[in-house]
Amino acid sequence: MSQASEGRDLRLTQVEKQFAAFTAVHPLDLVVPQGTFFALLGPSGCGKTTTLRMVAGLETPTAGTISIGDAEITYEKPYKRPVNTVFQNYALFPHLTIVDNVAFGLKRRGVRDTRKQVADMLELVELTTQATKKPAQLSGGQQQRVALARALINHPEVLLLDEPLGALDLKLRRAMQLELKRIQIEVGLTFVHVTHDQEEAMTMADTIAVMNAGRVEQMGSPAELYENPQTTFVANFLGQSNLIAGAVQETGNGVVRVDMHGTAVSIPAERAHVNAGKAWVGIRPEKVLIAPAGEPIDAPGNHMRGAVIVDTSFIGVSTQYVVRMPWGQELTVFEQNTGARGVMAPGTTVDVSWRPEFAFLLDANQDVNAGTEEE
Ligand SMILES: Nc1ncnc2c1ncn2[C@@H]1O[C@H](COP(=O)(O)OP(=O)(O)OP(=O)(O)O)[C@@H](O)[C@H]1O
Ligand SMILES: [Mg+2]
Repeated sequence: MSQASEGRDLRLTQVEKQFAAFTAVHPLDLVVPQGTFFALLGPSGCGKTTTLRMVAGLETPTAGTISIGDAEITYEKPYKRPVNTVFQNYALFPHLTIVDNVAFGLKRRGVRDTRKQVADMLELVELTTQATKKPAQLSGGQQQRVALARALINHPEVLLLDEPLGALDLKLRRAMQLELKRIQIEVGLTFVHVTHDQEEAMTMADTIAVMNAGRVEQMGSPAELYENPQTTFVANFLGQSNLIAGAVQETGNGVVRVDMHGTAVSIPAERAHVNAGKAWVGIRPEKVLIAPAGEPIDAPGNHMRGAVIVDTSFIGVSTQYVVRMPWGQELTVFEQNTGARGVMAPGTTVDVSWRPEFAFLLDANQDVNAGTEEE
């Protein structure tokens, strides 16, 4: 069913939105390649819905242009755009059956025989057996899939999803994430998905744009963003990071050498987003290795002694430690429970280490707590 028409990328060029004196979206450049799953991720109020509404035509940009392929749609009427939206409160028609809900868009456009298309759609979202029910007789996840079928039957080029799973409980949400991804691959349409749930964005998206206060802080694949964040906000909002104060000593030979409280650490140049002065050395908790003082650590790296465990949380698949470093800072360490070692109790003196290629280096002028929950 996917159409191989090339070059129908969704393109936002210097798109801006002001409400009176308030700028909800600062000039924004985005290209969403045709047929990809794109996520706009960010905290409440960062401008995700406003961006989506401009693409849908429900909000007019203050400046900039929006186009799909060669066609500019910046000021096109919403119903004339090859775009459909699925909202969080997907508002199915309660008095209509599932079949009639899904057929709605076709009927409104005067399509007489909708049976085949509706049957195909119900099969796609695996609701064939529910066809004659009313929405109230379905579960939340099933209703969500009806909303999806109702949008997809119009064959939009771009499907916009604004927190479509927000009303579902956690387990159902996880199941629907995989389902949505399967459907996107099957139909091959461009999906733009808005969420403030980083795990949701990482599970589904080919590309994530992390938004903060009306700006895109970083854009890339989930792995790129996670492994090589460029700002403290991205480092903290997408997963967790340890950020340690350091000072750049020298650069060269593809690395940036940093003094970190007396330990010399080397950060690969492509992961160093500052190369002079003060900096934050970033390392993800699962990249930090830990062992009782003096015992070997199974990886050569930046080795630091004299840390003390201050908190131990056993959570089954892993143990999460908080360790106090000699300079007083507490770091978070995740250790997978391979069974190789027992759980270490608070008070244990430990060595910690990480491989230098896993660290990243950020500008010290950025707020170290940006993007954390306590912020
Ligand atoms: N019609 C409007 N008039 C004035 N301000 C608005 C209007 N719509 C949105 N805003 C403001 O613009 C900012 C961005 O809003 P938006 O709805 O895009 O956020 P969001 O990222 O979708 O947040 P959430 O995750 O809570 O849905 C907010 O500060 C909001 O108060
Ligand atoms: Mg919103």
